[in-house]
Amino acid sequence: MPPKIPASTLRRLEKSARAATRSCYAPYSKFRVGAAVLTGSGKIYSGCNVENASYGLCNCAERTAVFTAVAASERKITAVVVFTPTPLPTMPCGACRQVINEFGPRALVSSVCNSAKRIDTTLPALLGEAFGPKSLR
Ligand code: THU
Repeated sequence: MPPKIPASTLRRLEKSARAATRSCYAPYSKFRVGAAVLTGSGKIYSGCNVENASYGLCNCAERTAVFTAVAASERKITAVVVFTPTPLPTMPCGACRQVINEFGPRALVSSVCNSAKRIDTTLPALLGEAFGPKSLR
């Protein structure tokens, strides 16, 4: 069962993900992405995509948000919200799904955008039979 996140918390996450796009550094793709994660302590951390002239080093918004939370000593993620200023929602890429799995293997994942369209799913649905910390035991 995915964690139950109160509707008011989900709205705060969405607001935070949207606000994070103000900091995007995406001069190459011009594709702006904001993300927000809810942690086990109930706090929200956000992040944006950060690109690089060496294109392969671009960092997605989701990973920026997760790493920001972990750098603040958080170790559990219960929800991730992705926002793009597009007509359709954007889903986390494969690399981000794997990174979310490390700290939020049961996390709720919601993608929202500039229209009413949204996708609400879970990390296990996006990354079946995942490789994770338990695989190394
Ligand atoms: N990007 C994200 O930040 N998150 C996603 O879920 C998909 C892609 C970024 C990476 C790059 O800066 C730009 O979007 C285009 O791929």
